[in-house]
Amino acid sequence: MTKHIKDSNDDQRFQEEGGGISFHNEDKDAIRALIVVLDVKSSKSQENTGAGSRSIESSIQEIQGLAAAIELDIIHTEVVSLKAVIPATFMGTGKAADIKTIVHDNDVEVVIADAPLSPGQQRNLEKLWNCKVLDRTGLILEIFGRRAQTREGRLQVQLAHLAYQKSRLVRSWTHLERQRGGGGTVGGPGETQKESDRRDLQTGIQKLEKQLEKVKKTRGLHRKSRQKVPYPIVALVGYTNAGKSTLFNKVTSGDVMAEDMLFATLDPTMRSLTLPHGRKVILSDTVGFISNLPTQLVASFRATLEEVLSADLIIHVRDIAHADSDIQRDDVLTVLADLGVPQGRFNEMLEAWNKADLLDQESLVEKQNIAERSQKTVVLSSLTGEGIDDLLAHIEHGLAKNDNLVYLELDTTRGADIAWLYQNGEVLQRIDAEDGKTVQFEVRFAYSKLNVASQKFDTALIDSDEFDSNTSNSEGGEGEVAA
Ligand code: GTP
Repeated sequence: MTKHIKDSNDDQRFQEEGGGISFHNEDKDAIRALIVVLDVKSSKSQENTGAGSRSIESSIQEIQGLAAAIELDIIHTEVVSLKAVIPATFMGTGKAADIKTIVHDNDVEVVIADAPLSPGQQRNLEKLWNCKVLDRTGLILEIFGRRAQTREGRLQVQLAHLAYQKSRLVRSWTHLERQRGGGGTVGGPGETQKESDRRDLQTGIQKLEKQLEKVKKTRGLHRKSRQKVPYPIVALVGYTNAGKSTLFNKVTSGDVMAEDMLFATLDPTMRSLTLPHGRKVILSDTVGFISNLPTQLVASFRATLEEVLSADLIIHVRDIAHADSDIQRDDVLTVLADLGVPQGRFNEMLEAWNKADLLDQESLVEKQNIAERSQKTVVLSSLTGEGIDDLLAHIEHGLAKNDNLVYLELDTTRGADIAWLYQNGEVLQRIDAEDGKTVQFEVRFAYSKLNVASQKFDTALIDSDEFDSNTSNSEGGEGEVAA
């Protein structure tokens, strides 16, 4: 839930909150918004518009979805085609004047511009239209601010806000300016306002980074204790609204919030899941990705996405029924590469082609054929459950490839080492020698544990054919695996 801050001196509906802007909506009416999609035709500047290679229709749909995610009342969507970006106001004066009329006639309170506006452009347009203007990044930050539920998530959003402001040095409507008031000297003599803003933002950033570091340490401890659990981690990634949370809920029967709202999941969620043949894994749901995610945002969410980096298997959930499905896939892969996921891991990734129930019969068969050939793709519907069993089988198979079966023979006196095996691996079989002096193990280790295990038990390793040679007291390991 967003916390609205009430400021008795200022009854505007837009208020500062934790370094960001919050929509202060006291009378509970939705805020009246106008969306302006800026379609720059020149190929040189097209990549700056946010439209990229997407069709204008899907750009419109996406920005409307983003606006709806913070429950704005979209009065109108205007597409403005431009040959080139005009430095002062992004669009030409004629178009800007037309929009002013729409804003005025419809009591529009905020204009969402689907383009990266410079601070100057934003200021000029706000002055001209006499209303608040948010660009795409500002809007995404606003959504993130609302969705963050953990302390870490909130800190990350605040940090992203400050980094964003610093990169733009937006001077109007920052709380720094309001705090400062009219009088008072800022910094030392000769310090410009810009320098002092930068300094204040930097101080704020450092403070947040320190707090975040503390929270991360705690998380690190949690991760360590999780690593003691010998189960592999399977991470879901995907474009926002692809259906990750729905899939997560379907397979774990949990109740993670799944809504038709972008970025419903901001903080990673984890739950254990038992695969068809009894193997346990930990499934992790992560934040959705979106095109043109500003770099400072990706950097701020690095901590959250560390789960992905350390996962044993990554599942890329895709909305296969979406017109821009392929472009969305590329966006996700770009973000993953930015996060430092090595190229090699992309090849091992599974793709869950979700929302198959929305495909017509012909496309469904076509997708299923492609999936069958690829062996790393599953066509499914998280809504109907179709294809889920197939996905689980693929997860099992995908993990088995990374699986590392190790055979060991230990003296029964090595109690601590035996306990370590149960804590860090999955003991599949245990065979006690008749004389009670030695014991053999067949243990499965997650990829991340293999090195440590091989070093620890270097001299105890035996060949798989040596295993079971003196069978007497064989027990399946399932029941013995320490949780
Ligand atoms: P973010 O939190 O934004 O990353 O979204 P997400 O990927 O977790 O998506 P979520 O599970 O919230 O689903 C988004 C919307 O798609 C919801 O309205 C779901 O009901 C819908 N949805 C998910 N899976 C399916 C599916 O298989 N078929 C159909 N028709 N709709 C689905």
